[in-house]
Amino acid sequence: DTGTTFAARLIDWHRRHGRHDLPWQHTSGRTPDPYRIWLSEIMLQQTQVDTVIPYYARFLARFPDLAALAAAPVDDVLALWSGLGYYARARNLHKAAQEVVELHGGSFPSRAAAIARLPGIGRSTAAAIAAFAFGERAAILDGNVKRVLCRAFGIDGFPGERAVAARLWALAESLLPQTDVGTYIQAQMDLGATVCRRSRPACARCPLTDSCVARREERIAELPAARPR
Ligand code: ADE
Repeated sequence: DTGTTFAARLIDWHRRHGRHDLPWQHTSGRTPDPYRIWLSEIMLQQTQVDTVIPYYARFLARFPDLAALAAAPVDDVLALWSGLGYYARARNLHKAAQEVVELHGGSFPSRAAAIARLPGIGRSTAAAIAAFAFGERAAILDGNVKRVLCRAFGIDGFPGERAVAARLWALAESLLPQTDVGTYIQAQMDLGATVCRRSRPACARCPLTDSCVARREERIAELPAARPR
């Protein structure tokens, strides 16, 4: 069926073309550390991978685990964030670490629904952390994934509209594979960032190209729809 094919194509594409050597990716043998995955996802929200890497390394050297972060003065956290921008991310990170200590006994919550209640973590980021760290079958829907879904399935309407977003979330959930959900989610993020770009997408390199509605109907430039005005 379409769902299986969609996920299987993305997973296969990521195995062959994705990056597998990033410092927060666990490779065989290393258990995924939710603290590291969380930190990387927050840094990656508004910052490119190559910029994040040295900040991530310095941050972990100073705050090797969640307890160290929670115990630190917020000014030390902000100093390590200096240059990354969007400083609310650092304040929320610190606040969330303290909440995990106070409300969860210091162990990072494992379910996306609980993770999404922490400061600075929305539904999509919570799902990514739960999938990467704990293998939960949770759908993500960030800007890149919205673009991939709107084009691949020919979804009309501005994704910022409640009804369109609800439709996209339902579609994202229906497409989740039974296994390899972490690889699948990383593949969606990477496809949106590197192939299904907003302008000049690289359709020739896309694993979805022969079933993509936007491509077939020559509507790539129109999808996803812009904010109505
Ligand atoms: N942006 C947010 N999360 C990301 C990830 N895991 N990989 C690449 N870009 C991202």
